[in-house]
Amino acid sequence: MKDMTKTAATLVRSDRGILAADESISTMNKRLTAAGIPAAEENRRAYREMLVTTPGLNEGASGVILCDETFRQRLRDGRAFPEAMADLGLLAGIKVDTGARPLAGAPGETVTEGLDGLRERLTEYAGLGAAFAKWRAVFRIGDGVPSWRSVRADTHALARYACLCHEAGIVPIVEPEVLMDGPHTLDQCSAVTAAVGLTLFSELRDYEVALDAIVLKPNMVVPGTESGQATGPHEIAARTVDAFKDVVPEQTAGIAFLSGGQSPDAAATNLAALRKIKTPWPLTFSFGRALVQPALTAWRGDAGRVADGQRALSNRVACNLAALRGGYRPADAKSYALT
Ligand code: G3H
Repeated sequence: MKDMTKTAATLVRSDRGILAADESISTMNKRLTAAGIPAAEENRRAYREMLVTTPGLNEGASGVILCDETFRQRLRDGRAFPEAMADLGLLAGIKVDTGARPLAGAPGETVTEGLDGLRERLTEYAGLGAAFAKWRAVFRIGDGVPSWRSVRADTHALARYACLCHEAGIVPIVEPEVLMDGPHTLDQCSAVTAAVGLTLFSELRDYEVALDAIVLKPNMVVPGTESGQATGPHEIAARTVDAFKDVVPEQTAGIAFLSGGQSPDAAATNLAALRKIKTPWPLTFSFGRALVQPALTAWRGDAGRVADGQRALSNRVACNLAALRGGYRPADAKSYALT
């Protein structure tokens, strides 16, 4: 457990974030297609190679989360991704859930699957070099949802996943995401986020999961995208910390927020505001879209534009590092870069 506690502490260190590049094949294909890039295995591989080999990435990221496909692929120089990441000073993470599926008896709600055979898969991933894993549960806010049935099912699965990770010597990133899509208010997001968190930690306690060897990856508390509610970063930060302060035990290794579809700039601005608040746990970022979208757009699937894609990723990672340090200035966003 000592090694896992150390890994968890590394993942949430105050001067690094975690890059989430673990889109499933179908999600990645959608993003490639939307960027005008053919949805082919080689393009998914080349895109992830561009990301992880970004110069200086390990100065801003402690680790990178990949999906099963990438974990088994190789860089052009022949190194397997986890091996190359170790050389680059990055911890290798693996997404191990198999996605959200309709939850029986709960129309419109999902439960994240992937527990069957997970013990064996985790043993294999550990052998391939995985230091940490990720499992994402998704909750939509709507009329009468999320239901207790869905909250209980998903948080129970997260606890079982976390327990299995520890058995395999892998640090679990525990991700309960309350989606920002919809007309719900900031208050509703706050109430659902706190209720999901409370249920999750009750399940984790029941499974006797060592909290100093897990990383919580939740949403920030924000109003729904169709709510029309204007909320500034200080209120978002205060409401986010409020939602978690009586829910997340102090011994938890730390919190790494997801971006959830916020614009790159909004995510960095909100993170900067969050870091200004004193909290009992370390706070950092584990963004996907808010880090990689500009890189995908700049790259365009063109081998001649790899450096442009890497500059775009370097820029967004450096923006969020500045946010961690409390010195992010949106007006200067374009000037940030990893050294
Ligand atoms: O599962 C979601 C990713 O790990 C984080 O992605 O920052 O785009 O929400 P996001």
